[in-house]
Amino acid sequence: MSYRICVVPGDGTGPEVVAEAMKVVTAAGARHGFDCQATYLDLGGERYLRTGETLTGADLEVMRGSDAILFGAVGHPDVKPGILEQEILLRLRRELDQYINLRPVKLHPGVHSPIADVKPEDVDMVVVRENTEGLYSGKGSFTAKDSPFEVAVQESVNTRFAVERCVRFAFDLASHRPDRHITLCGKTNVLTYAWDLWARVFDQVGSEYPDVTRAYAHVDAACLWMVEDPARFDVIVTDNMFGDIITDLGAAIQGGLGIAAGANMNPGGVSMFEPIGGTAPGFEGSGKINPLAAIGAAAMMLATLGEADAARRVEEAVAAVAGSLPSLRAGQMGMTTTEVGDRVADMVAG
Ligand code: IPM
Ligand code: MN
Repeated sequence: MSYRICVVPGDGTGPEVVAEAMKVVTAAGARHGFDCQATYLDLGGERYLRTGETLTGADLEVMRGSDAILFGAVGHPDVKPGILEQEILLRLRRELDQYINLRPVKLHPGVHSPIADVKPEDVDMVVVRENTEGLYSGKGSFTAKDSPFEVAVQESVNTRFAVERCVRFAFDLASHRPDRHITLCGKTNVLTYAWDLWARVFDQVGSEYPDVTRAYAHVDAACLWMVEDPARFDVIVTDNMFGDIITDLGAAIQGGLGIAAGANMNPGGVSMFEPIGGTAPGFEGSGKINPLAAIGAAAMMLATLGEADAARRVEEAVAAVAGSLPSLRAGQMGMTTTEVGDRVADMVAG
């Protein structure tokens, strides 16, 4: 098999971690009998400053013609915050209809979690974040801007179509996991329109999955329980904004952004895989950044491409290397970025 991979190293530490991820993908291909033809796109701050372009029709064409996209990070100190995020990352999620943001939260044995005494078997959940609408839909308005009477409205858009496909994806995922448990994470007590729709859809779709047990948690309580009792969670399904927030909390409890990977999924189209940590300003070029999150994202990419054995092998190598490092934090790994990538690649090859 041969796969067309669109690689977007991006800004900051993106290129360094993506290079290690591609190294591991190549090793996995050699071992499992597939190869990846990479097409690199230079999306990000440098190009924007040079040309004024963020994402062109030609870029999108390359992406649409790929089997998967591996994405580093975007964000540049000389570009006003928001432009690159909005016009590249968020736009891609919508243009390619990557309606699920899948973010596993797993504590590997030997990895330090800031929660004292937590055991690896207690932290094994997957957040299914709706990835196209909610508060991210860009709808809203200013009235009387810059006056003392100014009103800024930011609307959360929730369509039954998008809620239902997200919830269905989550139930399907839960039905294939050992615990077969799902929690809807919302705010039904205050956001009485959006979460009423979510709760109704959750119950309707849930009735088609009798062997998946259902729970509900308000988002604030979910934050408390993710720290105090993470074992109660298996699959969590939630909207775009809450999913953004609780997955940073999830990243913290699994050892930090150095290990947190995610997938922007279009199950019928082209999906995009990324470390969720961003550009890590201040660390670029230092060899201090942890590439395990990007390598973990590459493992999710291989799983989605149908290379299940290769994906499992990469995941196991990531877990083993993570557990062997003194810390997963940038600059505290006791090894350089390249050395960590080499160690994973060697395990995958060996
Ligand atoms: C994430 C990031 C993005 C988001 C930003 C960079 C727009 O925080 O992927 O979680 O809010 O979705
Ligand atoms: Mn985020």
